[in-house]
Parts: sequence; structure tokens; C-alpha cells
Amino acid sequence: MLYYAVILLCYFIDLSPAFPLESEYESGYYWREFDGKIPQDALPGGINSEGVTTYIGQVFGRNLVIPAKIDIVNDTVTYEWGYKEFLATENIKILCARYPEQFQWLSTGHGYMSQLKGKHLIIGGYEEGADIYIGRIQLDDELALGKVINGSNQATLNTTKDGKGTQHAAFQVLSYNPSISNRKDSSDCQVVINIY
Ligand SMILES: *[C@@H]1O[C@H](CO)[C@@H](O)[C@H](O)[C@H]1NC(C)=O
Ligand SMILES: *[C@@H]1O[C@H](CO)[C@@H](O)[C@H](O)[C@H]1NC(C)=O
Ligand SMILES: *[C@@H]1O[C@H](CO)[C@@H](O)[C@H](O)[C@H]1NC(C)=O
Repeated sequence: MLYYAVILLCYFIDLSPAFPLESEYESGYYWREFDGKIPQDALPGGINSEGVTTYIGQVFGRNLVIPAKIDIVNDTVTYEWGYKEFLATENIKILCARYPEQFQWLSTGHGYMSQLKGKHLIIGGYEEGADIYIGRIQLDDELALGKVINGSNQATLNTTKDGKGTQHAAFQVLSYNPSISNRKDSSDCQVVINIY
């Protein structure tokens, strides 16, 4: 009896979702929960002072969603806020991608962000009155990952080191370009494009 009631109920409840579903999973990148291990599809971000790859993180906390740097050698997840460096230990995600070759680091800086209007930049977090992207810059022996703040008055990359934040006017910003063909799909062609 109950069985039939459930069946009947299903006829009357509209199970079609309010938002249309994509027929195919289209986005080539996604944020995975970070549990201390680097997933195989994590997108390489920068290089630490010991020559080891760092990864792109995103931290939820302090009412913020903010890009972060994951450094497995230093064993830290760090982000910048108000010129200071903060360590995150929870609520961390890591940027992963199907085809790393579809990502490009575009050179830009203060006064040049409007030229990137047609580009698909990766949103790294949220801040009132600004676009937050993922950026990097070569600083001495480190290819440092940081937070790009594209505000109404200025565009800046903020990086951190040893507790302090630093601001940069010229930097690279991470962009996604799905029209770059992924050569992994053709089995007879094993070319790996290393953009780093
Ligand atoms: C980043 O740099 C800007 C300078 O544009 C500074 O005002 C700010 O405190 C720094 N941090 C954040 C979170 O914007
Ligand atoms: C950056 O901000 C400026 C000013 O708000 C805006 O004109 C420009 O389109 C923005 N660029 C990007 C890539 O978000
Ligand atoms: C290493 O970790 C410390 C905190 O333990 C931090 O202050 C420092 O910025 C980190 N170094 C790098 C290169 O990320």
C-alpha cells in the first residue's frame, strides 16, 4: 500500500530541477576539498624557493573566500589579508583541472586589466567591490602565488612571505582557454606542453 502511495506521489511531484542541467560536464576545472594530499589532477601554480611546485588553494573563513598558496614542503596553506599573512588549517579547497595545458598565465598589471575583458580568468574568491583572481610573480628564487585584486581604483597582486604581505603592480594572472586542444585525447600523439 505504502509502495503504491510512493509511486503515486512521484507522479505528482515535479522532479525536474529548477536550474537546467548541462548535458555534458563542460567546465575543465573545479575546486576539490583539500585534505592534506595533492590530488593527481591538481593544477600546478608556482614554485617555492626549493624548486618544488606549489598549488592553488581557496580558503573559506573570516567571512571570506580567498585564494591561497599550498606549499607541501613548508607544509602550509597561506593567504594574504590586509598586508598580513594568515595560515589556514581548515575549509581549504584546491584547484584541479582536466587538462592543465588549457591554462595560461597572462602578463598584466595595474592599468592593463581592462584589456583582458574577453578572457576567462579563474575567479579565486570574493571581495566587495573587486574581482579576485589568481596571480603569480617571480620573487628572487620563488615563483610566488598570490591574490589578484582588480578594484575600481587599482589592480594589484598581493603575495605573502614570512608573515608579511607585499603588493605588486605587474604580475601574471591565471586564465582558462578551452579552445586549446588537449592532446592527451589522441592516443597516437603524446606531446606534453609544459607551460610552466
Ligand atoms: C592588498 O593590497 C592592497 C593594496 O591595493 C591593500 O590595500 C590591501 O590591504 C591588501 N590586502 C587586501 C586583502 O586587499
Ligand atoms: C578590472 O576592473 C576594471 C575597473 O573596474 C574593469 O574595467 C575591468 O574590466 C576589470 N578587468 C577584469 C579582467 O576583471
Ligand atoms: C613557510 O611557513 C611559514 C609559517 O610557518 C610562513 O610564514 C612562510 O611564509 C612560509 N614560506 C613560504 C615560502 O611559503
